[in-house]
Amino acid sequence: MKIKNICCIGAGYVGGPTMAVIAYNCPEYKITIVDSNKSRIDQWNGPVENLPIYEPGLKEIISAVRNKNLFFTNDIEESIDKAGIIFIAVNTPTKTKGEGKGMAADLTNIHKCTEMIARISTSDKIIVEKSTAPVGTGEKIKSVLKSINNKNKFQVISNPEFLAEGTAINDLMNPDRVLIGGDSSKDGEEAANIVANIYKEWIPEDKIILTNLWSSELSKLASNAFLAQRISSINSLSALCEKTGAKINQVSKSVGMDSRIGSKFLQSSVGFGGSCFKKDVLNLVYLSRYYNLPEVAEYWENVLKINEFQKERFAKKINQIFEKEKIQKSISILGWSFKKNTNDSRESASINITKYLLSNSFSVNIYDPKVSDTRILTDLGITDNKKPENLKISSSIRDSLSGSYGICVLTEWDEFKNYDFIRATSILSKPFLFIDGRDFINVDSLIKSYKHVMSLDT
Ligand code: NAD
Ligand code: UGA
Repeated sequence: MKIKNICCIGAGYVGGPTMAVIAYNCPEYKITIVDSNKSRIDQWNGPVENLPIYEPGLKEIISAVRNKNLFFTNDIEESIDKAGIIFIAVNTPTKTKGEGKGMAADLTNIHKCTEMIARISTSDKIIVEKSTAPVGTGEKIKSVLKSINNKNKFQVISNPEFLAEGTAINDLMNPDRVLIGGDSSKDGEEAANIVANIYKEWIPEDKIILTNLWSSELSKLASNAFLAQRISSINSLSALCEKTGAKINQVSKSVGMDSRIGSKFLQSSVGFGGSCFKKDVLNLVYLSRYYNLPEVAEYWENVLKINEFQKERFAKKINQIFEKEKIQKSISILGWSFKKNTNDSRESASINITKYLLSNSFSVNIYDPKVSDTRILTDLGITDNKKPENLKISSSIRDSLSGSYGICVLTEWDEFKNYDFIRATSILSKPFLFIDGRDFINVDSLIKSYKHVMSLDT
């Protein structure tokens, strides 16, 4: 069976880059991306300097494939019906109401897509679950499709995405693995192979793993949980370093040099952010409770508790030092995105820390190279231009530092790593505090220039 017409529902951080990379590597496929957010589609069709997502290398790929074999359109129904393969890459946030509120994944978007596909399809299709969803979602999709449309045949494949923001293009071009989960029936195997054939255009076959639906869904949650767990482990030790005088980067290096442990994801930080770690670990906790495994649930829940502890510990440390020495509470926050090289700020530690500082009477001046002012205000829950007097957003590091008594670096942007914070003391009202929330700046060189120089372990 040769299917060359693909539709992707969801033009976000996953749908956009993933389909762009497939289009780039598979010129014989025609790919159409749709989204219920019309302005997002318009932005994808607009100037490449202003795509809805900032991701290194993305605009070059979009320039190469857009309107050749990759199309962004608001014509959702027609695009779905014409396609033989439909990727569902919609957001699956944590539920805010109903059963499982605050823990389980909200699958409303997936259900809406499934119902629409079932309702409007006039031909057989392969449905690819690209969104991260709990174990059993593929089965649910199958039963909804069957209950609404018994004329066409649908095969459901789980193909979770492992890209990380900021390195998405490289991750998609050279993934560690591609996971494809499907039914063990003949039709199921054929569908899994059709999806595998797309990836085989540029990915070595030994990196493509075929599993059943449930293993594929659980492996995605498990991978994110393991990564989050490593960060919480190192962050928990940074608190112990603060008490004992050990240095967290030395501990991290020593531990990571054990080849059984490995060095990646052992960078201590002010706490992990991003749209997925928290929601996916919560999802795992919910699933464990649902299957009556309270010990398993509690184990993973602690990964999140440590993350909250780390953010709170950091914010309190800043407040305490200003209060102790009765210094005017005015600080510059450098970095709003949850990591460098993305304009995404979902669950960024900067949000919690800034909220804490604002509520403790600090004047805060924020600068980020890529996150928009509107996004920062939305993250802080500030609407209708009701920006409080003690909050400023600047368009350069220099402006953000002007008049401050302290500098708090929260994202590891290269622009901050290379900045001359010694010369910057002349812009500050007083060089009272320098605090590095990413343990990536040579703070020792600043000791003579600031009254207090701190990191995660001091
Ligand atoms: P996103 O919010 O950036 O994009 C999702 C898009 O889907 C939005 O533009 C939204 O308007 C659209 N959408 C929602 N419901 C729709 C509907 N019924 N019809 C049409 N469009 C609809 O989300 P994302 O970051 O791309 O994440 C998508 C999924 O991929 C999530 O399940 C996430 O857990 C998973 N994931 C994300 C990443 C990441 O780095 N962001 C990585 C791997 C996996
Ligand atoms: C993460 C995973 O790395 C991806 O494999 C996965 O596909 C994705 O989630 C998802 O499912 O959404 P992402 O959140 O984009 O990707 O970025 P990461 O590089 O994992 O960073 C997440 C957070 O952890 C960031 O705030 C980062 O600064 C922090 N982090 C990361 C640390 O604090 N220390 C580290 O050593 C690594």
